[in-house]
Amino acid sequence: MRIDVVTLFPDFVRQCAAVGVVGRAQQRELLQVETWNPRDYATDRHRTVDAGSYGGGPGMVMMIEPLRTTLAAMRDAVPEPVHLIYLSPQGARLTQGRVKTLAKQPRIALLCGRYEGVDERLLAHEVDEELSIGDYVLSGGELAAAVIIDAVGRLQDGALNDAQSAEQDSFSDGLLDCPHYAKPVHDALGSVPEVLLSGDHAAIARWRLKQSLGRTWLRRPELLSQRVLDAGSRALLDEFRREHASKGLVRQNDAAE
Ligand code: ADE
Repeated sequence: MRIDVVTLFPDFVRQCAAVGVVGRAQQRELLQVETWNPRDYATDRHRTVDAGSYGGGPGMVMMIEPLRTTLAAMRDAVPEPVHLIYLSPQGARLTQGRVKTLAKQPRIALLCGRYEGVDERLLAHEVDEELSIGDYVLSGGELAAAVIIDAVGRLQDGALNDAQSAEQDSFSDGLLDCPHYAKPVHDALGSVPEVLLSGDHAAIARWRLKQSLGRTWLRRPELLSQRVLDAGSRALLDEFRREHASKGLVRQNDAAE
């Protein structure tokens, strides 16, 4: 997969994409990240890419022309058509579902805004999709681009060492991930739950699903209301809730009510 990033801070994006799983995916040629700096396509001496906002007010807007030529160069770099995503707080919220779909594309491009944003005419003309990584405002799209590169890059076939670990991720089946433990079995902080040492794979799978359901119920109940649980999962969640109540614990959201 190829990801082109249009950014005023190409070094930052390249460095983010050079480490860990995503860096390894690039080394293995499963992923190619290329950056394009609109300043390189500005035509004046000062390499200007922004101008004041019509109507007044503070802040600058990224102008059409340098971006138009940058995007043209980016599109023409290889024949593969490209799905262009603009990153902004006004976009649709990124989800793991969207990440999975994007990860199957042969090529996407990420347009990072700075200042107050990008001239609306360029967005209307060039952009296929607008995405936000959350309901907060960053000073530019670069961190959001790094998030997408990471989330999409790690899903490329062969990027993760253990193929199962993507399936076990939080959200991959609409639930939060279960707790994980490593050695030692006993520590001053507590012991590893016995079932995980039992070697009984069915019991371990059941325990993990129960913890996933329970954690989702505790921490992100809205995710549970968005899906229909089968009878087995419902029974496991009921078991979790009974155990939780028998420990005298109340769910935070319930305590607040
Ligand atoms: N640019 C600024 N804030 C952003 C956000 N929350 N998501 C994506 N891009 C952004």
